[in-house]
Amino acid sequence: MKFENLLTQLDNGIFTITVNNPQRLNALNRATFVDIKAAFEIVYADKNIRGVIITGAGEKAFVAGADITEFSAFSKAEGLQLAKNGHVIFNMIENCPKPVIAAVNGFALGGGCEFAMACHLRVASDNAKFGQPEVNLGIIPGYGGTQRLIQLIGKGKAFELLMTADMIGAQEALQLGLVNYVTTREELLPKCKEILEKIKTKSPSAIRHVVNCVNAHFKEGVDGFVTEVNEFAACFDSPDFKEGTTAFIEKRKANFV
Ligand code: COA
Repeated sequence: MKFENLLTQLDNGIFTITVNNPQRLNALNRATFVDIKAAFEIVYADKNIRGVIITGAGEKAFVAGADITEFSAFSKAEGLQLAKNGHVIFNMIENCPKPVIAAVNGFALGGGCEFAMACHLRVASDNAKFGQPEVNLGIIPGYGGTQRLIQLIGKGKAFELLMTADMIGAQEALQLGLVNYVTTREELLPKCKEILEKIKTKSPSAIRHVVNCVNAHFKEGVDGFVTEVNEFAACFDSPDFKEGTTAFIEKRKANFV
């Protein structure tokens, strides 16, 4: 499939999505959101895709936010629609049954930081910069940022980043738990691939249950412990369970299909 603002590549089960608008530091405009949704529809449906990496084109940015030029004249109703659309797409990423890693290769600001936070894991190169600078523009994060930032770094630091609009570097992001690893620029994609290669050897259905359970913790009105009981029980119906336990007993590596 051809996208307007994304490059995609499927290599050995790993689907790499590159936001490709480097002249605007990969800012997310309407067309890019349409592309991201379509790309994740493919990820959900295509059995050959076992994991996803999201990154940005060019040397400077992962994604420098929502496209400010596009929404600067929006009304309240249009703002509402913008946020709702962003939530639908980022929730789709967060709930993806396959592992999704953000390879943050530069600025991850505003909607870019929110995009990275919607992924299951984040790996940053040492030049990456994170921030939620929306208050500079008279707005707040609208794609889940106020909530996911608290989940990842806690309330106090989230307040600080949201109120000061400060940018932080990769090392501070690591200390705060905003990213899982920091690498050199050269090692960024290899590190993401290494993580996905490891996950690829595990039971795909169990990975899907992990996603459901972890996300259940943060869903209003959902008891994560009850979710775990049900997801755990569902595992016992899966061929992966038979294969995993049989492989253990036979003292061989499991071969999940
Ligand atoms: N929306 C639209 N255009 C953007 C953008 C965004 N979020 N972020 C960067 N751009 C554009 C710039 O306007 C510039 O376009 P131009 O060449 O036509 O002037 C181009 O991308 C390059 O950015 P520039 O500002 O020249 O790069 P820089 O290295 O001097 O600064 C940033 C980099 C990221 C600090 C700066 O671009 C910035 O503050 N961007 C906005 C970040 C933001 O507020 N994001 C949240 C939006 S809700």
